[in-house]
Amino acid sequence: MKSLYFILFFITFGSRYFFFGICQNIPSPRREQTSTLVGTRLYFFGGNTIIGGGSNEVWYLDLSSSFSISKPPWHSDAAMPVGYNFGTSCLSPIDNSTVFLIGGRTWITNTKSYSYTSSVYKFDSKTS
Ligand SMILES: *[C@@H]1O[C@H](CO)[C@@H](O)[C@H](O)[C@H]1NC(C)=O
Repeated sequence: MKSLYFILFFITFGSRYFFFGICQNIPSPRREQTSTLVGTRLYFFGGNTIIGGGSNEVWYLDLSSSFSISKPPWHSDAAMPVGYNFGTSCLSPIDNSTVFLIGGRTWITNTKSYSYTSSVYKFDSKTS
């Protein structure tokens, strides 16, 4: 599963130009995102896009069924209240559905500036 994760990561994010020209429900190129596998859903949080600033987007790929690697079936989840990049994330073993986002950098849209706080954010994959 871990090698599949890395293959998907590099196919999706390794090439900056992979998604240019396609813009329907597909994440824009990015770096510095964090990801966590919840059940069969591989979630991606935030990242730094070519637009600049930290992205507040949450995307996931459902790995429960096979799909064409050239057209991954991306799902957009509810946006986070802040942009987020450079952080790390992990799945809580207590319920196997809560994801914690730890450290990193938050992007404050109002002031168009970054905040380096030691925040911990919680994402409930059951309720988005
Ligand atoms: C969470 O997943 C692990 C690994 O599959 C399993 O051993 C554990 O029992 C699960 N915990 C809960 C609360 O479902």
